[in-house]
Amino acid sequence: MSTLGNRRPIGVFDSGVGGLTVVRALMERLPLESILYFGDTARVPYGIKSNATIEHFSAQIVDFLLHHAVKMLIVACNTMAAVALKTITARAGNIPVLDVIEAGARAAVSASPGGRIGVIGTPTTINSNAYARRIHALDPSVRVYSQACPLFVPLVEEGWLDHVVTRLTAREYLRTVLAEEIDSLVLGCTHYPLLKPLLHDVVGREDVKLIDSATTTAELAAVRLNETGLAADSQSHASYRYVVTDIPLRFQTIGERFLGRSLENVERVDIENDASGKPPRRRRTDFR
Ligand code: DGL
Repeated sequence: MSTLGNRRPIGVFDSGVGGLTVVRALMERLPLESILYFGDTARVPYGIKSNATIEHFSAQIVDFLLHHAVKMLIVACNTMAAVALKTITARAGNIPVLDVIEAGARAAVSASPGGRIGVIGTPTTINSNAYARRIHALDPSVRVYSQACPLFVPLVEEGWLDHVVTRLTAREYLRTVLAEEIDSLVLGCTHYPLLKPLLHDVVGREDVKLIDSATTTAELAAVRLNETGLAADSQSHASYRYVVTDIPLRFQTIGERFLGRSLENVERVDIENDASGKPPRRRRTDFR
């Protein structure tokens, strides 16, 4: 891969605003890397949809990102990683694919000396058992306690990050998991780190670590870029572009609050027509 080829962006995708938690970690860990973020804001939430629908949406997003010449794909959505990883990897061909479940599972195992891990996520992620499988592949002796939290995603998308309704909802959802004397709680949905301060209060115990896979994902991305020779060179200037499927306003408002920086390059796309059937649209110059 040529040096200029290495300036191609990393494609990061999620069903909505939640994947920005991964973008923030990538910006901090890999400041030379450009990012093309895709948030499927018109079709969020994914976490209550069928596997077939999620696979179909994921395939469309991957095609879109590949047409925009990304050099690596990061599945910044636990739900897509839980049920569509095979489809995504198959479509990606030789483009490396990383996902937040692998990162979250690794981070949880190393942060849980007592071997008791709580996992919260969307109903689709929890029903898929993907976290328990990945955690047990790393350490079969760990006990995993899971809880689906279907209302968290709409609350985050609504911007209710510190709201009495969110707090009551969290208390209700966390009750049974917290009764299990867990060492760590995996925030198994990329929307949940936006609720971290509130969840920290609700958990109310300093010894329970909240695991947010964003930082580990960024770390794994750094390793993989070096291994594959795809890391941006030291003269690169990172650029960030955000693509959403609904009007950008809400994404922009919540995203700016969360990222602590203005989100300027937010565009709306029509995924049905932009990714299918057209020849790849190379936009490398956007990222130099
Ligand atoms: N952010 C996604 C995840 O990590 C799911 C949100 C949704 O339901 O679309 O699971």
